[in-house]
Amino acid sequence: MRPAPAGAGWPYQLSQPRLYAASFGLGALAGAIGDRISLGFVAATEEQVGHHLEAHLRKLPIDDKRSRAVLEQMRIDEAQHERMAWNPVAVASRCR
Ligand SMILES: [Fe+2]
Repeated sequence: MRPAPAGAGWPYQLSQPRLYAASFGLGALAGAIGDRISLGFVAATEEQVGHHLEAHLRKLPIDDKRSRAVLEQMRIDEAQHERMAWNPVAVASRCR
């Protein structure tokens, strides 16, 4: 598949039948397997992202405070996403 032209967005992606079919299929599959399993995948993914960010933090120079602050905030956000995936009912009740 050729790369999207510069500036191409959602309409261009819709014109790519295989991409659209794959996206639709993954969405349908995620819907069919149910929230509990889907959210389990979300939680597992967020956990892995957190580990990945921690590995990057260990590699960053200690005096690169600006980059460290960005990665640390990302790590905090991903940990929150993981907690939300494990407890979606509590998150939904807070949003009311
Ligand atoms: Fe996330």
